[in-house]
Amino acid sequence: MPNDTVALNQQNTPLDHLDDVWLFGYGSLLYKVDFPYLECQPASIRGWARRFWQGSHDHRGTPEAPGRVVTLIEEPNAVCHGLAYRVTPDTFAHLDVREKNGYLRFFTPMTFNDGQQVEGLVYVASEANAAFLGPASLTEMARHIAFSHGPSGANADYLLQLDDALAELGAPDAHVAELAIQVRQLLE
Ligand code: SIN
Repeated sequence: MPNDTVALNQQNTPLDHLDDVWLFGYGSLLYKVDFPYLECQPASIRGWARRFWQGSHDHRGTPEAPGRVVTLIEEPNAVCHGLAYRVTPDTFAHLDVREKNGYLRFFTPMTFNDGQQVEGLVYVASEANAAFLGPASLTEMARHIAFSHGPSGANADYLLQLDDALAELGAPDAHVAELAIQVRQLLE
């Protein structure tokens, strides 16, 4: 897989024939909403767990010292809560660049809080991408996140803003919350 996934996403999942598309956000897309949307609703997807296992060369770290950001890892019966945004297809010109460091988008079923199901796009960085870091102990990941920085700012801010956004959504995530506790302690 190329390091930059923009062209791959546009080839694999062309969207021009659609009027609108649902996008499921579970990481920075929850709190950094730098794109227009038509509608937004809490939603969840099943079979995926949010993990700080993806390297960030372009936002919260550099190619020499990558930060750690979230991706989704397949886990039977796991439920990942987030926000679904209904957007126009042209919005992906911006989003594909934002998520270019290893994330591929594909359609998957997502469920709104009222039980209604739709197919929507989700960006996932799999272990096949060059920036994938994989698991480490929580202590190791917390130290890594506490002291990484990139063009979009401190890696710690990515984590703490995500933790706040999930609490606000009423969907705290134990993996994120535990890392946030440790990172706050390290930064004190
Ligand atoms: C997402 O937020 O849905 C994708 C990962 C990220 O941009 O943090």
